[in-house]
Amino acid sequence: MILGAGGQVGRCVSDLSGFRGIECIPLTRGELDICDLAGLREAVAELAPDVVLNAAACTDVERAERPESRSEVWSVNASGAENVARASADAGAPVIHLSTDYVFDGIGTAPYSEDDTPSPLNVYGMAKLEGDRLVAAANPRHLILRSSWIFSPYSRNFVRTMLRLMGGQREIRVVDDQVGGPTSASDLARTVLLLCCAISDVHDFGAWGLYNYAGKPDVSWFSFASFIRQTVVSEGLLREVPDLVPISSREYPSGVRRPSSSRLDLSRIRSVFGLPPSDWQHEIRCHLAAYLGQG
Ligand SMILES: NC(=O)c1ccc[n+]([C@@H]2O[C@H](COP(=O)([O-])OP(=O)(O)OC[C@H]3O[C@@H](n4cnc5c(N)ncnc54)[C@H](OP(=O)(O)O)[C@@H]3O)[C@@H](O)[C@H]2O)c1
Repeated sequence: MILGAGGQVGRCVSDLSGFRGIECIPLTRGELDICDLAGLREAVAELAPDVVLNAAACTDVERAERPESRSEVWSVNASGAENVARASADAGAPVIHLSTDYVFDGIGTAPYSEDDTPSPLNVYGMAKLEGDRLVAAANPRHLILRSSWIFSPYSRNFVRTMLRLMGGQREIRVVDDQVGGPTSASDLARTVLLLCCAISDVHDFGAWGLYNYAGKPDVSWFSFASFIRQTVVSEGLLREVPDLVPISSREYPSGVRRPSSSRLDLSRIRSVFGLPPSDWQHEIRCHLAAYLGQG
């Protein structure tokens, strides 16, 4: 059962329905709002899923800072996440919940492990961190996946924004002093489904908890954009491509503080489940054309 199935990760998981025999039940915000605890309880009891995935969230980081948006952001990213964990626990189902690198302040360059202390810089990160805590408290059978810089052929994301700008501008200024791991939503979706398999295949599954999952290698936004540009050129996807100009975060107009380093240490998920990082370069090289047309 997928909540937030209209988002980029939700759609990528739904696209993989049938993978390893897993049937997905996608529910968009219009079909089930995670702020509606009674509705959630009813749906989980009726559908009796083996696993509930919470892919729902308010992810617009800029909007989250606005005073008029804050209560919705907290309702969805904190209380809503708790509702999902509570409803699944009541029905005896485990929950997989998605979290973010933005729970960290990004000071320093060492990759963050699951044991590092979060210290979010912005409202989105604070609400997501509270969501993580509430999920863990409400359902002991939880897997929380902390990811970063997610992109897909769907919705709004950095890759699609770059492609749009590359189609119409002569020069694009891109931040070069924030580093992280771009993550293909398709790889994340496959990882979620492999975790569903692990939960059902392993008798008395006991590896509940928090795991980082992201793409490697870590790069700056500017280097990420350069890789996209290089692929656009080599694939002949656009007739003309603009110049990219590296800038600092201070030069980028934004009301949101973001971590300078979003590097995540992925050793736990590899050692416990044998799962490798997202190969974001492969996704860009092989599937970029598909990103130009989709909605
Ligand atoms: N995007 C990133 O770079 C990133 C990085 C790290 C972690 N994450 C986390 O990964 C998860 C998935 O992110 P994403 O990129 O797939 O986000 P997304 O594309 O913004 O999708 C989120 C979905 O949640 C839905 N939603 C919002 N409020 C809801 C509610 N009350 N009830 C049910 N659905 C609701 C949204 O519907 P509407 O569009 O109709 O509002 C949207 O379809 C989130 O937990 C996010 O915090 C994202």
